[in-house]
Amino acid sequence: MDVSGASPCQLELRGVTRTFGRLVAVDHVDLCVHAGERKAIIGPNGAGKTTLFNLISGLLAPTAGQILFDGQDITRLPVHAIARRGVARSFQITSVFPHLTVFDNVRAAVLAHSGQAWSLLRRADRLPAVTARTLAVLDELGLADRRDWPAGVLSHGDRRLVDLAMALASDPRLLLLDEPTAGMSPQETRRLAELIPRLAAGRTVILVEHDMDVVMSVATSILVLARGAKLAEGTPDEIQRDPRVQEAYLGGVI
Ligand SMILES: Nc1ncnc2c1ncn2[C@@H]1O[C@H](COP(=O)(O)OP(=O)(O)OP(=O)(O)O)[C@@H](O)[C@H]1O
Ligand SMILES: [Mg+2]
Repeated sequence: MDVSGASPCQLELRGVTRTFGRLVAVDHVDLCVHAGERKAIIGPNGAGKTTLFNLISGLLAPTAGQILFDGQDITRLPVHAIARRGVARSFQITSVFPHLTVFDNVRAAVLAHSGQAWSLLRRADRLPAVTARTLAVLDELGLADRRDWPAGVLSHGDRRLVDLAMALASDPRLLLLDEPTAGMSPQETRRLAELIPRLAAGRTVILVEHDMDVVMSVATSILVLARGAKLAEGTPDEIQRDPRVQEAYLGGVI
């Protein structure tokens, strides 16, 4: 991990703030994520983790502050423009279409990113590159054998994998994962924790996760959010030893 500050941030947040009426959901957050880093964001319910993802991916605009990706200001770009630059996310609540097959769900995501969704949707079978990318992603996530199943009949854990496959469809450089193990069985959680480092190869990952075993096994660094603001940031070791974090845990803030 670069601690010299010499290498530039791939993603940089400067004083990012988002209010909803009188509630400050994200409070002056500064953040620098280097290419290839696996950063976990932890914090209690309502700490602002999902809102932070919404701000980075363009679903929400910040009330104040600036977001840079590759050194370029993306603060007020629309969702699709940010996606086109290489940012993708999975959702805390799965966004899979239950009546479409696993294959069609992922293909829709591949098509959406390739910019060919509208003109070529009916001829999608004839697009070998789209099919190849779809199959590659299904393979990566171990879903190939269920490609023809309607997504709605999958187990909750496998539906979450389809959601993840849809986020990976665009081969993003920055992948935002919002509680990917939520609602998974311990077995499914373990499987995904093993999978994440493989999915992270060649890309940057920011992971929001409540399961500390997953966080500690996946993350190279951790940001602790509490009430919208940064409480601490460091390596997993530093965070575990940080008295402010321990106090927050013991004091019931987290
Ligand atoms: N669209 C919205 N309108 C109003 N308030 C919102 C909106 N989105 C989030 N909030 C509020 O902002 C705060 C932060 O919510 P957020 O969903 O970011 O938390 P979180 O850290 O992801 O929590 P969890 O761990 O439960 O997913 C909460 O108090 C939430 O109620
Ligand atoms: Mg959330």
